Amino acid sequence: MAQTERAHWSGRLGFILAASGSAVGLGNIWKFPYVAGENGGGVFVLFYLLCIALVGLPAFIAELRVGQQGQANAVQSFKNLDHAGSKWRVAGWCGLVASFLILSFYSVVGGWVFDFVWLAIHGEISPDNAANVSTLLPELHASAFRQTFWHLFFMAATVFIVLAGVKDGLERYTKILMPVLLGLLMLLFFRSFATPGIGKALEFLFRFDLSSFSTDSLLEAVGHSFFTLSLGMGAILTYGSYLDKKESAFRLSLTVALLDTVIALAAGVIIFSTVFSNPGTEPNSGPGLMFITLPLLFADMDGGQYVALAFFLLVAFAALTSSVSMLEVVVAYWHEQHNVSRKKTALTVGGIIAALGLLSAFSTNVLADVTVYGLTFFDLFDKLTSLFLLPMGGLGISLFFGWKMCPKSANQIFSNPLHAAVLTWLCRIVVPAAVLIVIGSEILS
Ligand code: TRP
Repeated sequence: MAQTERAHWSGRLGFILAASGSAVGLGNIWKFPYVAGENGGGVFVLFYLLCIALVGLPAFIAELRVGQQGQANAVQSFKNLDHAGSKWRVAGWCGLVASFLILSFYSVVGGWVFDFVWLAIHGEISPDNAANVSTLLPELHASAFRQTFWHLFFMAATVFIVLAGVKDGLERYTKILMPVLLGLLMLLFFRSFATPGIGKALEFLFRFDLSSFSTDSLLEAVGHSFFTLSLGMGAILTYGSYLDKKESAFRLSLTVALLDTVIALAAGVIIFSTVFSNPGTEPNSGPGLMFITLPLLFADMDGGQYVALAFFLLVAFAALTSSVSMLEVVVAYWHEQHNVSRKKTALTVGGIIAALGLLSAFSTNVLADVTVYGLTFFDLFDKLTSLFLLPMGGLGISLFFGWKMCPKSANQIFSNPLHAAVLTWLCRIVVPAAVLIVIGSEILS
């Protein structure tokens, strides 16, 4: 191993922007609004906030801390903190495999977003073309060429950023992309207060109506709090390893969790105010919400073409700042453990993931009939990672932090012993229990 001096962020802001770039992604803008919509709005939002505080935030601190104290990639950090043969490194392996598989299909979805940016630029999401807007996504799915082109485009952009390194790649580009993302978000957010649907949107998101409570909503909320903070696959661990040991893990984690939550809520307001501005549209329109329902609504409003462009650019940047953190998990590992240059590693690993992603890109056209256990490749990779690898990774990281590193590590984070004890026990019991309940219920359902 050739580790002389590891790369680091130039400061706290570099970490905050890169980590919130990882956390804020398709999960916030695409998934959160439709899951909230399907689970009755306000009740789900309340549980989600509780889950972020009691499960997501402690798990985030745990993952960040393993990297920050271990000062190495997702596998080596466990060895540094325990011993060379430590079984806990399996958690790191789960994360590595999960990143690899998730990126292969996340990139296909990222490609759709860039395709929609292109369509918006060319005026295809506008009143002039309103009659064809609902077929834009099915047409894209049916075209193996377009699916491949945009998937490769998205992977190329991801590789381009990662190969430039921690400071000159990840930090440099997230420092540009995240402020633009926040600017676009604010623009769309304030604009939504001028739409007729804003009142209903706020009521839907924030009114607590017990009648729509179900245990499923609770399970969804736990699972999503993990996913939205990018936990369980070593991304936050790897980003944490580029932090100075002296930085406050609690403050940084709280900042990222707050940013992520505020952005998900703002995305909810933007999307539901658009949905409710049109009397015929329902909030619970599932995964098609972003690529079919919203474009239809954009095409129906004044200046909708520009709103559509701003919206899809926002999503594209959110997806890209997330995908770079997935690739970084694998690249950091390979580059450090095998002593290969970062550039070579990023190109090779990125190339392999891009090739694997073709299976997902073809899942809606030439390979639509090829299934494994009844699932297309796209769905197979999705299920394998979200139901198994991510929870296992998250479980391992929390248990390791809670039982191996705490209470010592918690006492370094908090000067107040009570706060340290709360963190320790949340990571020892509450987070693992929540993860196990979600895995169990998914296996049984
Ligand atoms: N948090 C991302 C989102 O909200 C998705 C995600 C889950 C992720 N795990 C990740 C991103 C790991 C990067 C790394 O869309």
